[in-house]
Amino acid sequence: MKEETLDYEDFKSDLSSKYMGRSVYYFDSIDSTNTKAKKLASKGAKEGTVIISEEQTAGRGRLGSSWISPKHKGLWMSIILRPNIAPVDAVKITQIVAAVIHKSINCLGIKSLIKWPNDIVLNDKKLCGILTEMNAELNTINYVVIGIGINVNLNEDEIPKDIRSIATSLKIESKNYIDRKALLCSILENFEIFYDEFLENFNMETALKICRENSAILGKEIQVIKKDSCLCAKAIDITNDGRLLVEYKDGSKEYLISEEVSVRGLMG
Ligand code: BTN
Repeated sequence: MKEETLDYEDFKSDLSSKYMGRSVYYFDSIDSTNTKAKKLASKGAKEGTVIISEEQTAGRGRLGSSWISPKHKGLWMSIILRPNIAPVDAVKITQIVAAVIHKSINCLGIKSLIKWPNDIVLNDKKLCGILTEMNAELNTINYVVIGIGINVNLNEDEIPKDIRSIATSLKIESKNYIDRKALLCSILENFEIFYDEFLENFNMETALKICRENSAILGKEIQVIKKDSCLCAKAIDITNDGRLLVEYKDGSKEYLISEEVSVRGLMG
């Protein structure tokens, strides 16, 4: 059977967005779509440009980790944005993307949760990760690259043994083959709506509501892992600007910024 592919020609007639995903760079194989997106963005690629690859040979995750991206099995893609906002506000876009992916996965009947700041999880295992990278001056953003990795149709034996207890796919969880094209279009369309609303009115209430109501960690005991420490805390809230409010055992509170920390449930 010929694998379905994600070239623009394959999905353009199903896509109803105006500019999100209307300029597409498609690859059969690439090192990392984020690396390619950064190169294209620095040469002037326009907002909403999408880079998709069927596989990545050097996919990158947060905090220097790698991202396994086998051929035809996932959505491995990056979106180039040029928001006219302050660099500190770029982190909000990650929350918007997380909400959008959650919404699109939910439409498939799969009840995922959002693990602040950038993971979509189910049954304590990761389905999707988001890698936001930015190029900015002091007060202006040159570009933002949103890297999205969704484990779509991986079978259990296609997930490396050492991460099998912490990673899963939509197919494994739903026991159904998932249409990657439909998922891609849904994400691009929902993202355009949420992103436009954010840029026009600086409003991300709907996204925050989704992140709070479907959080995998709010109200729970978590570990806050920084460079030199690992502390137990309770996740209290996600603030309007996308930070995580936590309370430590001694009663002190802290607002966490996503770049600084990694959070884990106490179970691992
Ligand atoms: C994480 O959870 O650590 C983030 C993972 C992000 C993976 C995606 S796959 C597409 C894009 N290209 C990359 O090299 N990484 C992101």
